[in-house]
Amino acid sequence: MTEQIVYLNGRFIPKSEATISPMDRGFLFGDGIYEVIPCHGRRPIALERHLDRLTRNLDAISLRCNERDKWRTVILELISNSPWEHCGVYFHVSRGVAERRHHTFSSTLEPTVFAYTFDIPAPRSSANPPEHGLKLKSQEDLRWQHCDIKVTALLGNVLHYQAAVNEGFDEALLYRQDGLLTEAAASNIFVVSGRKVMTPRLDQHLLPGITRGLVLDILRMSQEFEVTECDLRLSDCFDADEVWLSSSTREIAPVSMIDSKPITARAKSVWGLAIDLFQQHKFEFA
Ligand SMILES: Cc1ncc(COP(=O)(O)O)c(C=O)c1O
Repeated sequence: MTEQIVYLNGRFIPKSEATISPMDRGFLFGDGIYEVIPCHGRRPIALERHLDRLTRNLDAISLRCNERDKWRTVILELISNSPWEHCGVYFHVSRGVAERRHHTFSSTLEPTVFAYTFDIPAPRSSANPPEHGLKLKSQEDLRWQHCDIKVTALLGNVLHYQAAVNEGFDEALLYRQDGLLTEAAASNIFVVSGRKVMTPRLDQHLLPGITRGLVLDILRMSQEFEVTECDLRLSDCFDADEVWLSSSTREIAPVSMIDSKPITARAKSVWGLAIDLFQQHKFEFA
């Protein structure tokens, strides 16, 4: 296989030639923002929503570098040259290289922009469900208070995720000290009771996932569900018919177990209806 081409600071180059300075603030402080844009059959899903979030998040960390049109072109070029039909585009902007390591930053730094594609699973449907549901380990959410910003400094998420995997689970399900569910370490959560589909309301404790937004919009559009953003607790998961995780790479993934308790669909699978609607409409959103 020929070497993968990646994008770094204005150039498309072989991955082995893509190097950055150790003085890059992304390396030293995790001082940056990223996006993951999913593509199926080389068509990106909700690209403009991902660019909106990227722009908003750069603004949130005062990284003033909005080159949205250029970035859209880079992303589309990477997709068309990707070795994978089903791929994610990782797109990363860090604050750049400073002369001295210091917490404060200058607005004159040249940002480092890095992007590449990686393979993701083919889409699921009711006719092609996953063999196993995901097993989640519940943990108190010990991350910081800006989980609504998609920062590259993911150590909090990494430690939660790894702790779950070390115990034989697939992902961590996070709840705050007050008992309210936030999200999983790398996904949003949905709790389903009959045709009622619930997900935690947005605040600074969880990421406004693009897939979460698509699921809400598509299910609301179908008028077949009662869709609610509300406060949810772990006990709501155990009383529910189904629990799902959503993310750009997972789309909508059913959960089969939380801690030692199985989550079993008591009614006909609502996931099947939801995933088929998602596949039918996911390309309709800019
Ligand atoms: C913490 C967290 N929550 C939610 C999500 C899902 O977001 P999206 O649907 O935009 O991929 C992610 C994705 O990486 C995430 O890291």
